[in-house]
Amino acid sequence: MSNTHKTTLEPEDTLNGAGHYDPNFTSHVISAIGPKTDPRLREVMTSLIQHIHDFAREVHLTVDEWTSAVTLINRAGQMSTSTRNEGQLLCDVIGLESLVDEITFKKAAAAKDAVTQSAILGPFFRHDAPLRNLGDSISFDTPKDAELVYMHGTIMSASTCEPVEGAELDIWQASTNGLYEQQDPDQIEHNLRGKFRTGKDGKYGFYCIRPTPYPVPDDGPAGELLHMLDRHPYRPAHIHLIVIKQSFKPITTQIFDAESKYLDNDSVFAVKDSLIVDFTPLQGNEKAGLELKYDIHLAPVD
Ligand code: BEZ
Ligand code: FE
Repeated sequence: MSNTHKTTLEPEDTLNGAGHYDPNFTSHVISAIGPKTDPRLREVMTSLIQHIHDFAREVHLTVDEWTSAVTLINRAGQMSTSTRNEGQLLCDVIGLESLVDEITFKKAAAAKDAVTQSAILGPFFRHDAPLRNLGDSISFDTPKDAELVYMHGTIMSASTCEPVEGAELDIWQASTNGLYEQQDPDQIEHNLRGKFRTGKDGKYGFYCIRPTPYPVPDDGPAGELLHMLDRHPYRPAHIHLIVIKQSFKPITTQIFDAESKYLDNDSVFAVKDSLIVDFTPLQGNEKAGLELKYDIHLAPVD
């Protein structure tokens, strides 16, 4: 504790004004960080402590309010499992994952070339999606209300526009009931997800379903927060993808259906204009009635 703490409250301490709190307290806490601390951790924690103390002083945070927040965070941890990441979801609904994604992408791209923009990973990625053959479908037991889509395009270098051979595209999407396969006992494992590798021409192609809007899980603390903030839990219709290829920066992104609801008010703030795509009618293909052509531009590693 700082030695400037008073033992009694003056009347002016109880009202407005961060200036009425102990002016030395925050620097006292920051100075407790020891000399062996990693420099980046020191930078991050110094700033975090400064901002979180300033925030508490600015809103005159009470013990009851702080206790409610701690309880909410604890419950988020307690309900998290290998298929439910409530901590990440809490960050998502206050836009933190999207902001961190923007910061990381801007740093990585610093670009003169038109690189495909990034978007948040979200909590439903799985590392172990199966590798499938070009032309396969990722939709098994396709629901009756789903529209099948042939999604295809070229993965290319953003600087030369040359096709990239052997790029790995990892794709995942929710079913029309709004659930990813790991959330839904009625879907077979790895339904609506898979990895594909481009051929010599940099092309990929596979069958999937037209995505539909869905609510993020709202039966936990993140949902309670949305409710308290008078917000809805819906995300616009989207497909997730990650592209990896040696000598290029990996990209994690999402593409959004131009005709979807919620493009302007995504509950997790992930939409970017350049990621909005058109599904168009596909003639003469008995496997799909729609087509989505989507080229992906990778940034070469410097
Ligand atoms: C998703 O798109 O899968 C997602 C992203 C953030 C929070 C919840 C779900
Ligand atoms: Fe999603």
